[in-house]
Amino acid sequence: MRIIVAKDYDDMSRKAANIMAAQIINKPDCVLGLATGSTPIGLYKNLIKGYEDGDLDFSAVKTVNLDEYRGLPKENDQSYYYFMHDNLFDHVNIDPANTHLPDGTEPDSAKACSEYEKTIASVGGQDIQLLGLGHDGHIGFNEPCDEFVQETQCVDLTEMTIEANKRFFASADDVPKQAYTMGIGTIMKAKKILVVVSGADKADIVKASFCGPVTPQVPASILQFHPDVTVVLDEAAAAKIK
Ligand code: F6R
Repeated sequence: MRIIVAKDYDDMSRKAANIMAAQIINKPDCVLGLATGSTPIGLYKNLIKGYEDGDLDFSAVKTVNLDEYRGLPKENDQSYYYFMHDNLFDHVNIDPANTHLPDGTEPDSAKACSEYEKTIASVGGQDIQLLGLGHDGHIGFNEPCDEFVQETQCVDLTEMTIEANKRFFASADDVPKQAYTMGIGTIMKAKKILVVVSGADKADIVKASFCGPVTPQVPASILQFHPDVTVVLDEAAAAKIK
């Protein structure tokens, strides 16, 4: 595991974007595993700039996203489909047919999850998987639990996650209570993993995830067992690690 400490959010975003950009340049038809949330927004802005400057070509790139709220239609501005179009896809020359997220509108959760596993396999798996880190150590929407779940699953969001995500909705009651998420095994199969974390409020969970024992109670701790992980932190998020 490589840990890079960046000065601040902008520096973190630029450094992490450079790693994604290198992947796209080295393998123009690569499969990017993507994340939503606040943390990757600056990274996506840097990728858009790379495209506008003529340095990055997304025409052959394929993407698979980590997760999607169950029950939100694509056109809902809080769906992760909407987020990805708004923050990246609509601003680069990616073919929308090459972009994939779990189908939040599929009511049959077993079907939604197995279809998504097939989709990920059909594109060949992630060359690089981008991850943010939840305050409870969740990656994707894999919340703390008693065992690491392997494949794409339907999860009940914890109170902590609903509380953290309510800032995007009119109220906590409007936050969907379930999501479809890649499983821990699906994430761990990525060839490379890139984690971005920013802010003093994540310093404790950064320490627990990357310096503490590996346990499903801290889902991100499993990343210590992946052979090719780069974690890019800003100084505030890195404050509690040596
Ligand atoms: C997003 C995702 C989540 C977030 C995590 C951190 O697709 O799966 O695990 O990465 O909740 O979110 P932010 O970046 O908003 O702190």
